Amino acid sequence: MSILLVFNRHPARFLAALEAEAPKCAVHVWPTDVDPSAIRYIVAWKPAVGIIERFTQTQVIFSYGAGVDHLLLDPGLPKGVPIVRLVEPDLTQRMSEYVLLHTLMHHRRMTEYLELQRQGRWHEHWEPVTQDVRVGVMGLGVLGRAAAEKLRMFGYRVAGWSRTRRAAEGVECYAGMDELDAFLARTEILIALLPDTPATRGIIDARLIGKLATNPDLPGPVLINAGRGRLHVETDVIEALNSGALYAASLDVFEAEPLPAASPLWQHPRVVITPHNASNSPPAGVARYVLEQIARHERGLPLANVVDPAHGY
Ligand SMILES: NC(=O)c1ccc[n+]([C@@H]2O[C@H](COP(=O)([O-])OP(=O)(O)OC[C@H]3O[C@@H](n4cnc5c(N)ncnc54)[C@H](OP(=O)(O)O)[C@@H]3O)[C@@H](O)[C@H]2O)c1
Repeated sequence: MSILLVFNRHPARFLAALEAEAPKCAVHVWPTDVDPSAIRYIVAWKPAVGIIERFTQTQVIFSYGAGVDHLLLDPGLPKGVPIVRLVEPDLTQRMSEYVLLHTLMHHRRMTEYLELQRQGRWHEHWEPVTQDVRVGVMGLGVLGRAAAEKLRMFGYRVAGWSRTRRAAEGVECYAGMDELDAFLARTEILIALLPDTPATRGIIDARLIGKLATNPDLPGPVLINAGRGRLHVETDVIEALNSGALYAASLDVFEAEPLPAASPLWQHPRVVITPHNASNSPPAGVARYVLEQIARHERGLPLANVVDPAHGY
C-alpha cells in the first residue's frame, strides 16, 4: 500500500505519526520521484493545482482537514475518485472549546474588561444571565452539532441552521433559505460553522447581520466565525462593527490568510483574532483515521464521510 502526502508545507509530524502507526506502509511526500502508478491513496492539505491528477491509480483522496474547499479548487481532480473529509474526536472537541470560549468571552463582555484593565479603570458592565442568551449555530454538521450540544449543556438557548432538516435534542432546528430569517431573528450570538461552497460564500453580509437579534443586556449582536473566511464579507463586518450593528466578533478565518497587516480588524477593540487554529487536525488522530478507512476500503467496506462534489462538502 503506497500513500502520498501532498501538503502546502512539509508534513513532518503527520509523516512521523503515519510511520509510527503503520511502519510497513510506504509513505511518500510530494515532491517525490516515486512511480506515479504506485500510489493508491493521497492525503492532501491545500495541494497546488495539477499535482493530484498525475497519480492516475489513486483510489481515495483524503483531506487532512474537515473542510474540502482547498481540494475542490483543483479542476483536474480525477472524476469518480472518492474524497474523504476528516471527522476526528479531538478536532471536534477543540472546535467545541473554541466556540464555548468565545461565546463566553462576548457574553461576559471580556473585550470591554480587557480595555478597562489597560486603562486602569474599575467599572462593572451589565451581563445577561446565560439562560437568556440566544446563540445560533450556522451549520449543524459534525462540528456544529457538537458545539451546539456543549452550549446547551452550559445553559444557552441554542438554535441551529442547516441545508437539510436536522434534529438535535434541546436545539431549535431551522433548515434552508426559507427559514434563515426566522433563525437570525432569534439569534444574538451567531456562530458560523458552515463549509465554503458556492451556496455559502459571502452569506454573512450587511443584510444578514442586520437581521440578527440584540439581547437587551448586551450592546448588540456578536459574530463568531470558525468556519471559513469566505463565509463573511470582511468590509461588511468591519462596517457593522464600526456602526454598532455588531457589538463584537471573534474571527478565526479570513478572506485572505494570513490577515493582511493593514486590516482594521487587528486594531478593533471588540474583535478577537486567532490564526485559523480554532481546531487544528491532530496528526496521530488523522493517521489512525486514514489507516482505518484504508483498511475498510481494502476489505470492500464503504468509506465514511465521503464528500458530495455536487454540494461541495
Ligand atoms: N477554523 C478551523 O480551525 C476549522 C477546523 C475544522 C473545520 N473548519 C470548518 O468547519 C466546517 C464544518 O465542518 P463539519 O465537520 O461540521 O462539516 P459537515 O459535517 O459537513 O457539516 C456542514 C454543515 O453545514 C451545512 N450546510 C452546508 N451548506 C449549507 C447551505 N448552503 N445552507 C445551510 N447549511 C449548509 C450542512 O447542512 P446539512 O446538515 O443539511 O448537510 C451541515 O449541517 C468545515 O467545512 C471547515 O470549513 C474550520
